[in-house]
Amino acid sequence: MFKELSFILRARTEFVLGWVSIVWFTSIVGSSNVIHLSNNTFSRQSTRELELQTSPQVVAQCGKNVTLECDVSSSSEFDIKKFAWMTAESKHLCQLEDGKLDHKVLCESKAEPLNKHRHRLTLTLTNMMPANQGEYICKLYSSLGVENRRTVVTLEECLGSFDFSNNQSHVECQFHGVYPNGTVHWLQGSSNLTDSATTQTEQDQHGLYNVTSTLKVQPGDMSQPYTCSLWIPASMKYLSSQKLDVVKPPIPDTSSGSSVKLQWICIMVGTLMVKFII
Ligand SMILES: *[C@@H]1O[C@H](CO)[C@@H](O)[C@H](O)[C@H]1NC(C)=O
Ligand SMILES: *[C@@H]1O[C@H](CO)[C@@H](O)[C@H](O)[C@H]1NC(C)=O
Ligand SMILES: *[C@@H]1O[C@H](CO)[C@@H](O)[C@H](O)[C@H]1NC(C)=O
Ligand SMILES: *[C@@H]1O[C@H](CO)[C@@H](O)[C@H](O)[C@H]1NC(C)=O
Ligand SMILES: *[C@@H]1O[C@H](CO)[C@@H](O)[C@H](O)[C@H]1NC(C)=O
Repeated sequence: MFKELSFILRARTEFVLGWVSIVWFTSIVGSSNVIHLSNNTFSRQSTRELELQTSPQVVAQCGKNVTLECDVSSSSEFDIKKFAWMTAESKHLCQLEDGKLDHKVLCESKAEPLNKHRHRLTLTLTNMMPANQGEYICKLYSSLGVENRRTVVTLEECLGSFDFSNNQSHVECQFHGVYPNGTVHWLQGSSNLTDSATTQTEQDQHGLYNVTSTLKVQPGDMSQPYTCSLWIPASMKYLSSQKLDVVKPPIPDTSSGSSVKLQWICIMVGTLMVKFII
């Protein structure tokens, strides 16, 4: 009976000990598992099998072409299921699928011959306009998984053409194809006439602005040249500065600045000749 009791006691102790050790073991394994898992996710991020590369930032010139490159490389061989350049709105611009290139814009796909470790997809955006600025995403679906990278494209300033006209009461400056938005500052000699001018901006579908500024003048004030300058607040600079030699009498053809200048010279020469003759 004593023996039996001691057996039961021992069995109980072993049972309890066993449970304790199981609980202890599970907790150890459990916690080490957690450590292991987080280690694993960390290492997977730092040493990816598949490396996708794009330039994070690209600055394009207005009206020019810009190329965006997306390079994929891997230490192991991989098969491409789909490789694409798309807009932030997921509009596919060019895509390589089942070995075929499908594109709406200029797009080039290049693999090193007999090499399943590298591939490049090049997107060319032509005639860059403000409306084409933004995020472009390169995405790869491959036998080694899915990856994506982005490139943010921004634009330098744009300036198209300049035009000016004047009549008895007004001088007007027009800057076409401007980006970013701007305003016009007026000077005549040392006086700043900006506050007396009216400036209007219009934006077209490409994101370019036409900036038109009109200054009311006193007929007698036209003898001194005016300067109209295109100020771009976002860039904190003048994109263009135009000196306008306007003459007092009404001019039949006021559409071009050079003809006005020519007439101004003619009048100067004329005055000099009259003086010379006298
Ligand atoms: C931009 O690309 C287009 C299409 O290939 C080409 O016709 C044009 O000449 C290029 N423009 C410039 C400025 O390189
Ligand atoms: C002169 O030009 C301004 C703007 O360019 C226009 O509003 C105005 O009517 C013109 N005045 C005359 C007398 O032609
Ligand atoms: C452009 O700038 C002018 C002056 O700075 C401002 O009055 C106008 O509202 C702006 N236009 C747009 C479309 O942002
Ligand atoms: C002329 O006046 C405008 C507006 O008041 C100002 O922004 C600009 O800096 C002035 N330009 C000069 C050369 O003083
Ligand atoms: C800007 O000016 C150009 C040249 O005069 C003209 O063709 C174009 O329609 C204008 N754009 C807007 C939005 O007014």
